Amino acid sequence: MISATMEKELNDQLKAELYSANLYLAMSSWCSSKDLNGTAQFFRKQSEEEYQHGMKIYDYLFEVGARAIVPAIDQPPSNYDSLEEIFKQTLDHEKHITELINKLMELANQEKDYPTANLLNWFVAEQVEEEGMVHDILAQLRMVGTSGQALFMIDRELGKRE
Ligand SMILES: [Fe+2]
Ligand SMILES: [Fe+2]
Repeated sequence: MISATMEKELNDQLKAELYSANLYLAMSSWCSSKDLNGTAQFFRKQSEEEYQHGMKIYDYLFEVGARAIVPAIDQPPSNYDSLEEIFKQTLDHEKHITELINKLMELANQEKDYPTANLLNWFVAEQVEEEGMVHDILAQLRMVGTSGQALFMIDRELGKRE
């Protein structure tokens, strides 16, 4: 059994993961509207992954005898200035999520809640991977510039990602 505080905090994290799913789907939609179909596909996959992160927490809550509450999700922005802006916002968002995960880990440690710490370990590793990936894409974007040809190349590359 987890504490009532942990139950609430994990439900907040469920909401944050589902917001991430919404945010990346909104970015995917913007990319589709700009014919950046590779990038649209990339963000759609990211969105599906974030949904799975949310469901990981959802399932865990029931596993430990607590309850997952389905939250209202805020509407993400629908318009973005550029591809670079989108990836900048993505990196900022992932950094924010990392902070939330770290705070949860601190709470789990304080409460000597080892099962939740074990769940959170997975998220810690996932955040390192995601921040690293977005950082690399942003670096590549800055290297190739913003000409039509550069965007075409980057878009095609992003569309190939698994
Ligand atoms: Fe996530
Ligand atoms: Fe993420």
